[in-house]
Amino acid sequence: MKIAVVGSGYVGLVSGACFADFGHQVVCIDKDPKRIEALKQNIIPIYEPGLDDLVASNVKQNRLSFTTSLPEGIEGAEAIFIAVGTPSRRGDGHADLQYVYAVAREIAQAVKGFAVVVDKSTVPVGTADEVARIIRETNPDADVAVASNPEFLREGAAISDFKKPDRIVVGINDERARAVMAEVYRPLYLNASPLLFTDTRTAELIKYAANAFLAMKITFINEVADLCEKVGADVQQVSRGIGMDGRIGSKFLHAGPGYGGSCFPKDTLALVKIAQDNDSPIRLIETTVAVNDQRKRSMARKVEKAVGGNLRGKTVAVLGLTFKPNTDDMREAPAISIVQALLDAGAVVKAYDPVGTEQAKLVMPSGITYCADPYEAADGAASIVIVTEWDQFRALDFGRLKGIVAEPVLVDLRNIYNPEEITRHGFQYSSIGRPGAEAI
Ligand code: UDX
Repeated sequence: MKIAVVGSGYVGLVSGACFADFGHQVVCIDKDPKRIEALKQNIIPIYEPGLDDLVASNVKQNRLSFTTSLPEGIEGAEAIFIAVGTPSRRGDGHADLQYVYAVAREIAQAVKGFAVVVDKSTVPVGTADEVARIIRETNPDADVAVASNPEFLREGAAISDFKKPDRIVVGINDERARAVMAEVYRPLYLNASPLLFTDTRTAELIKYAANAFLAMKITFINEVADLCEKVGADVQQVSRGIGMDGRIGSKFLHAGPGYGGSCFPKDTLALVKIAQDNDSPIRLIETTVAVNDQRKRSMARKVEKAVGGNLRGKTVAVLGLTFKPNTDDMREAPAISIVQALLDAGAVVKAYDPVGTEQAKLVMPSGITYCADPYEAADGAASIVIVTEWDQFRALDFGRLKGIVAEPVLVDLRNIYNPEEITRHGFQYSSIGRPGAEAI
C-alpha cells in the first residue's frame, strides 16, 4: 500500500518510518528543502533513539523516500497523513490550524483518484469536518474521505510506542475510509493492538482527554507530594499504594517538578479553550494548568530553603534541562521557569544537559553558564539540583563532587536517589514528597 505523510517533523517522521517498516511504500513530504535534503542523507533533524537506523534501513530497502513536492509525493497514495505542527496560537491558547488547512488545500488541488486524508496532528474537535469542507470547497471533484487518527507516542520511546500501542484510535465518517485504515494498521492489529473505530469528533476528543487526564494524574501526585512533605509521609509509597489498585494504575504517578513538553501543556490549554467555547468548562483541567505553572517556579524555593534561605550570589549547578530524558526537546521544560526563578533570587546558574544544550541555548534565560559535564557544573556550587532524570545522573561520583562543591547540598527534583545513601556521602539531601524533603 502507498502512504504519503505530509510534514516530516516529529510525528510525521516517526510515523512514516514505522509505516515503511511495516512494509508499506511511504513518501515523507516537507516544504523545507533543507530538511528534505538532510533526510535524504540520513541526517535526522530530531533526537529520537533508533530513528536514524529505522530511516536508513527503510530508505535502503526502497520503502521510504522524501520529497518537497506534495503533488509528486501523494501520487497514487491511498492514505495521506497530515502531520504538520499545531502550535498554541499566541494570545488565546487555541491550537493554530493554519498549517493543517493549507495542506488540506494543497491536497485538494493535487489528488487524483480516491484517497483517505488522515489528520494525525493533534487537532480540535471538528477539524476533520473542516478539512473535508476545505477540500470540497477547493476542488468539488476531489474524491476523498477524511479520517482522524491521533498519535499517542512519547518522545524518547516513540518507535516502540508506535509499534506496540495500547490502542489505535481511528475516527471515520465514511465506510470507505475504514477499509483503507484497517489495511494501514493491519501489521499492528495482527500483533494484537486493538483498533478502535469511532466517528471523527470522538477520535479528536479522545486525544485531548487522554493527554489532559495524564497531566491531571501527574499534577494530583505532585500536590500529594507537597502534602507528604508537610505531614511526614512518603509520596513514592503513596504512589505504589494507590497504583496497585487496577482502577488507578501505577503509571504517571511519579512526583516531580511539574510536567512539560510539546504535548501536555499545549493540549491541556487547548482542551480548556474548547470546553469554555462550548459552554462546558472542564474545571479540573483549568486547575491542573494553573497548578502546574506555579509548581515549576516554586521548585526554586526548595533550592533556596536547602541552601539556608538565601540564594543571592550563590552558585547553583542545574543538572538536566530538557523536559524529560532521552530527548533534546526543550519545549515547556520545567528547567526554563526553575532557572529563571533561581536567577530572580540572585543565584549564579551553571547548567549541564547531556544532549539538550544547543536547544536550551535558544530558550533558556540568558546569563547562565553551560558546562561540559556534571562536575564542571558542580565546581564551587552551593547546591546541585537534578531537574531531569537522565541515566548518567543516577550514578554521580559523590566522593569527587564532595571535593569540588562549595556546600554539599543535593536537591533531587526527580527522586532518583535514596535519601540514606546521599546522607552517607555527607550531602544534605532534599527531594520531592519524601522524608527529609524540604517542605515549600
Ligand atoms: C506525552 C504523552 O505521554 C503521549 O501519549 C502524547 O502523545 C504526547 O505527550 P511526551 O510529552 O513525549 O508524551 O512525554 P511523557 O513521557 O508523557 O512526559 C510528559 C511530562 O510529564 C514530562 O515533563 C515528564 O517529566 C512528566 N511526568 C511524566 C511526570 O512528571 N511524572 C510522571 O509520572 C510522568
